[in-house]
Amino acid sequence: MRVLSVVGARPQFVKLAPIAHAMAAAGHEHVIVHTGQHYDAKMSDVFFADLRIPAPDVHLGVGSGTHGVQTGAMLSALDAVLLEHRPDWVLVYGDTNSTIAGALSAVKLHLPLAHLEAGLRSFNRRMPEEHNRVLTDHAADLCLAPTEVARGHLAAEGLAARTVVTGDVMTDVCLATAATVLADEPAPPAGLASGEFVLSTIHRADNTDDPQRLRAIVEGLAALPYPVVLTAHPRLVAKAAEHGIDLAQGSVHPVEPLEYPAMVAALGQARAVVTDSGGLQKEAFLLRTPCTTVRTETEWTETVDLGWNVLVTDLSTLTAVVDRPAPEPPDAAPYGDGHAAEAAVRALEEHLPR
Ligand code: UD1
Repeated sequence: MRVLSVVGARPQFVKLAPIAHAMAAAGHEHVIVHTGQHYDAKMSDVFFADLRIPAPDVHLGVGSGTHGVQTGAMLSALDAVLLEHRPDWVLVYGDTNSTIAGALSAVKLHLPLAHLEAGLRSFNRRMPEEHNRVLTDHAADLCLAPTEVARGHLAAEGLAARTVVTGDVMTDVCLATAATVLADEPAPPAGLASGEFVLSTIHRADNTDDPQRLRAIVEGLAALPYPVVLTAHPRLVAKAAEHGIDLAQGSVHPVEPLEYPAMVAALGQARAVVTDSGGLQKEAFLLRTPCTTVRTETEWTETVDLGWNVLVTDLSTLTAVVDRPAPEPPDAAPYGDGHAAEAAVRALEEHLPR
């Protein structure tokens, strides 16, 4: 079986890692195409190195742009690549512009398409990620869903027959990485003490692009009664500079984006997490660090239902919410047992179009 993976943004490299390893273990041919959506070394190369992902076979070098320009550039470059390799499956990951570009390119060339992390929904149609994931699910021949909640969403949209629940591949990587890095008791970031800092990331367009909203979030973080390690995504740095907002105020210690093992270590050591990332909410849950999400909704609803994640829209409540006690450890394991990538590869084998 020959599978061609299309990736381009930071969270996709994390998802690619266990898939690449499971593909190699099963003896399949795996072609990796990097669109170039994320191009800074700290957003891309270090993930390939740390997670032992083979170097991309093809790099499209697309870079930044408006959604249409960025997605269109990927689309026009992908035709030739897909036609050259003629894979048994084109595999796309998550919900970024690289996902929708890979999906459109595959279906237009009549190549079988599988979507990893299918069925997530925020039901917020303002989010570019929501357009990307809904359209990709409906284009896909095989929807690889991480959870039963995701299966339910796909079923409600008429996609039950092409859905397989595999578990969540980010859980595979997170649990394996945590077991290694935390055993070494690494020094926490910014010279802080374990258990005494809040770890934060903010990068969603809805939070960064409106100056008033971004100012309120940074001021909320600055007023927290604990040091806040703010790992600053390039979008956050660019928008803060554009709006004249100083990130290094009050409790906030801005730092460069962390490499994956360092991020997992910091997550395990933090007393709390404040984020608008999807993946981080789930990773916080897996490492039993209470999470506060600065959004109106989440795709990972299990984290909220089990008491480990609270959504904050009114920023005046941020300190009170972040300072809440940790809940009881849950018995439930909604994201699987750490072997989702093997299940995904098995599903690709079993549903191979004839
Ligand atoms: C993208 C995904 C988002 C995901 C996030 C993870 C879409 C629509 N969004 O958002 O779902 O959570 O990746 O990080 O695909 N930039 C750099 N260097 C880089 C990458 C980006 O400087 O390596 C800057 C550029 O100014 C760019 C901006 O960040 O314009 C935004 O990058 P982009 O890839 O468009 O989207 P993200 O915000 O990263």
